[in-house]
Amino acid sequence: MTDKYAVIGNPIAHSKSPQIHKMFADQTGQDISYEAILAPLDGFAATIERLRKEGYKGCNVTVPFKHEAWQLCNELTSRAIDAEAVNTLKFETGKVIGDNTDGIGLVRDIEHNFSTSLKGKRILLIGAGGAAHGVLHLLLEAAQAPLVIYNRTLEKAVSLKKTIEQHEKLKLRSVEAVEFGKLGDKQFDVVINATSAGLTDSEIPLPVTVFAPGALAYDMMYGRETPFLKFAREHGVAVITDGLGMLVEQAAESFFIWRGVRPETAPVIAALRKQQ
Ligand code: ATR
Repeated sequence: MTDKYAVIGNPIAHSKSPQIHKMFADQTGQDISYEAILAPLDGFAATIERLRKEGYKGCNVTVPFKHEAWQLCNELTSRAIDAEAVNTLKFETGKVIGDNTDGIGLVRDIEHNFSTSLKGKRILLIGAGGAAHGVLHLLLEAAQAPLVIYNRTLEKAVSLKKTIEQHEKLKLRSVEAVEFGKLGDKQFDVVINATSAGLTDSEIPLPVTVFAPGALAYDMMYGRETPFLKFAREHGVAVITDGLGMLVEQAAESFFIWRGVRPETAPVIAALRKQQ
């Protein structure tokens, strides 16, 4: 019997996840179906309940339900606990297990697909909302170097920094919270935009000196050149990318959690790039 999976969000119509998981299933011979489901803003828990009753094996969760998904799980992985958000649910008899594959998706995209080891790299993480929180812990683990959280609203950067100060394994790591306009002449090897500023074509105020020689500029949004990526390109940044690779890598990790099989991501990323 075909095992059923889905991605739940609101809005959800433009999600690439069904296409990605279809390519993974074809490639690995796994007998699954995967659809996009729109949940009403006040109807996430009810939607999960329905899917469980209908025998679905799991689902992905996207905006705006990742924190709500985190709250309703019976069991959480350490990655999900750290992120305070869940993007992957696995339904087992009598329980829902929550994981978060966003952080590992970002790290794998940078380290494998861009052949850039994060170890020892100075990282600037722009943003302090859910997207930044979802990747912060894994970035710190991978980099083992000082990291700066740069945000429009200082208090949010400070409160994200506090989650590290209170973290058993990461509390001794150097994390600094800086508000927009106060970066000075600090330089970074990896600059990641985890804000939603690109949605409104808003600029991120960055000094021209922010990119170290050979730096990588990464926007977690995908599909078009955001003002942040344009700024990076215009200032000669060596490697520039949107978040399409992260999208595919986080999906591959979800697929692995559900099926125990790791799909090849490179052909899937290449196929999606062709459509852009
Ligand atoms: P998400 O889940 O996408 O991270 P969020 O939790 O609402 O959504 O966080 C949005 C992030 O994008 C925040 O860091 C926000 O900055 P503030 O904390 O100052 O609100 C940032 N952001 C959104 N629009 C922005 C803009 N036009 N310019 C700069 N930062 C912006």
